[in-house]
Amino acid sequence: MPMDAKKILLFGGSYNPIHQGHLNAAINAFNYLKCDEVWLIPRKYNYDGSLLLDGKHRIAMMKLALSGLDNFKICDIELKDQSKKYIYTYNTAKYLTRKYKKDYKFYFLIGADQLNNIENWYEIDKLTKLFQFVCFRRPGYPIVTSLAKKYNITIIEGNQIDASSTMVRAGYFDKVNDDIQNYIMEHELYLKERIMPHLTDRLFIHSLTSARLAKSIASSLNVNSNRAYVASILHDISKSLPIDEIKKIIEVHYPSKLKLPEFAWHQYASAYLASVEFGIKDKKTLKAISSHCYATFNMSSLDKIVYCADKLEESRSFASEVVDIRKEAFEDINLAFIHTMEEQLRILKIKKAPVDKHLEKLLKYYKERI
Ligand SMILES: [Fe+2]
Ligand SMILES: [Fe+2]
Repeated sequence: MPMDAKKILLFGGSYNPIHQGHLNAAINAFNYLKCDEVWLIPRKYNYDGSLLLDGKHRIAMMKLALSGLDNFKICDIELKDQSKKYIYTYNTAKYLTRKYKKDYKFYFLIGADQLNNIENWYEIDKLTKLFQFVCFRRPGYPIVTSLAKKYNITIIEGNQIDASSTMVRAGYFDKVNDDIQNYIMEHELYLKERIMPHLTDRLFIHSLTSARLAKSIASSLNVNSNRAYVASILHDISKSLPIDEIKKIIEVHYPSKLKLPEFAWHQYASAYLASVEFGIKDKKTLKAISSHCYATFNMSSLDKIVYCADKLEESRSFASEVVDIRKEAFEDINLAFIHTMEEQLRILKIKKAPVDKHLEKLLKYYKERI
């Protein structure tokens, strides 16, 4: 290794998404080792088999995070790997050292959590000879000094930021910059994870199954399936709130809807939260959310799909009774919409609930237009 070899700090991770914890660790190590460059290596997949967001979005957010950090680069060799073989860090290490052996000295940054598990890494003995491993401290993960010693791993001192991608995915955006937060909102990323803290278990499952159904109905009818998915996954997002809070939202933002029956309020409150908390700006999506339970006279195909998916999805207790209507929805949403409303009235009758005059009027209106 020549004396003037460039010092490169490699930092592999899923970056799903990148956050301040990653940056803080990399900057500390970069300064501590007096490196020339940092290369962040996004993983192609998670080693535990869990799904990762599409690489193009992860890279886009990394670019936003790295703007202004001139010596920080993204090394996408693992993402670009087409070999279909399992990618181990050892494979990447062999490739990089072969390619750059004359010019670069590589360091490899890991967190204290990874250090504790390092004996399970593929070819770790050879790997730690190719790269000088360095480790940053993480709150809650004490350093196992015997392992650090065994593999000659340098421990980086410096401030620690307690951040995790899991928290960002759940909608806690305090550890990412505004650009990344906006990117997540704009591209409607991590919706499944972001709705979870807002809903009861039952409503969470209901929202996911409705969204899946709405998406597949929409694709079979050439309606925008992404819109159907987003509207459906968010349709009940306010429903776990106490009724007083729902009422407050209606009083302030939809005062004319206060006269509607109380059960209808949550569709407007959900549209409001979808817009404010989830950054959904698309008017058609918001309209579909705000007509999913108390239908209206000017419903589009998208609105009808979201309405039907809410009633026909498979986790509903009466799911077995609506199999035919569910099938019909894939062929003709107008007919399925009418049959769904009829089914609603039939259930009310069985329950001996008061007759829903609004629903009866709508049913008549839509039947005349078939
Ligand atoms: Fe609802
Ligand atoms: Fe619902």
